[in-house]
Amino acid sequence: MEKVVSGIRSTGNLHLGNYFGALKNFIKMQDDADCLFFIADYHSLTTHPDPTQLNGNVRNVLSEYLGAGLSPEKSTIFIQSDMPEVAELYLLLNMHAYIGELERTSSFKDKVRQHSENVNAGLLTYPVLMAADILIHRATQVPVGKDQEQHLEMTRQYARRFNSKYGVEFFPEPVAYNFGSELVKVPGLDGSGKMGKSTGNGVYLVDSDADIRKKVMKAVTDGGPTEKNSTPPEAIENLFTIMSLVSTPEILSQFRGAYADCSIRYGDFKKQIAEDMVTTVAPIRERIFEVRSNEKYLSEVAAHGAQKARQSAQATVSAVREIMGIKRF
Ligand code: TYM
Repeated sequence: MEKVVSGIRSTGNLHLGNYFGALKNFIKMQDDADCLFFIADYHSLTTHPDPTQLNGNVRNVLSEYLGAGLSPEKSTIFIQSDMPEVAELYLLLNMHAYIGELERTSSFKDKVRQHSENVNAGLLTYPVLMAADILIHRATQVPVGKDQEQHLEMTRQYARRFNSKYGVEFFPEPVAYNFGSELVKVPGLDGSGKMGKSTGNGVYLVDSDADIRKKVMKAVTDGGPTEKNSTPPEAIENLFTIMSLVSTPEILSQFRGAYADCSIRYGDFKKQIAEDMVTTVAPIRERIFEVRSNEKYLSEVAAHGAQKARQSAQATVSAVREIMGIKRF
């Protein structure tokens, strides 16, 4: 059976990029694999969040996991910092992570550009902690969006390097996984780039119907096609991508056809996307609100998940210590 591990950072509410890139796959995979899904709160510390808000953020993501359909009976659901073994594996893997390759990571270079005032060592070694999250359960598949592809490549590199350095076949080489076979990049509503938490171009799982409609109707478009069968510019192609996620294939091909023969009306196009998005999000949102108020249930889920996750983690860490030569006197 495949062993599946993935996580999402607790930096705010989850948007449709997180949902279609990751969470929806988590939900589908839990039926036929051994799955562990966590909330990456250690990873969220690179930006120094307000300590009084951290726990609330974790609680929100946990409610979003459960509201969207993750089941604590089928999957192990836990908070990263409830499993301190990962910090030890991170330390041990850091001995085999080279500064040069960490400095060349795209996500690191982006962060240096965006936040030159806060280039901390946690940010540099972010991919090592992520590798530790995955390798600590000796996972084989990792459901993630396209932006995490390079981190998965690095995880495989660390697994290979460890195995070959110590002459063992200990870590499997995990692959980035999407149910639809290709990794997804969900675009934002601002005409370019991916949907992200800090960019203000997203629709969130907790957005009201009215907010969703308002955001979609404001999405960037252009003057419309003037030549038959022309290729849509990026902003319009992005809306087609979003439509392909929330609408039926028939509706998508109807609007593709209308674009091709220049009869498309962007008002109708956006209205259709907005309504189909509301149909996708509204039931999830209702369940998120329901579960979010049940503190006792959330604590039980987290405690039970941590206990199960730690068993798997402890076995790996003691084997790694042994392989590296750390032995008790
Ligand atoms: P994070 O928290 O930035 O994003 C969580 C997941 O959502 C996906 N995602 C998207 N997918 C498609 N289109 C988008 N616009 C979009 N925005 C976000 C991401 O690809 C990701 O799958 N490093 C990870 C968290 C992490 C992790 C791990 C993941 C920590 N340890 C171990 C897997 C395994 C991150 O920052 O994701």
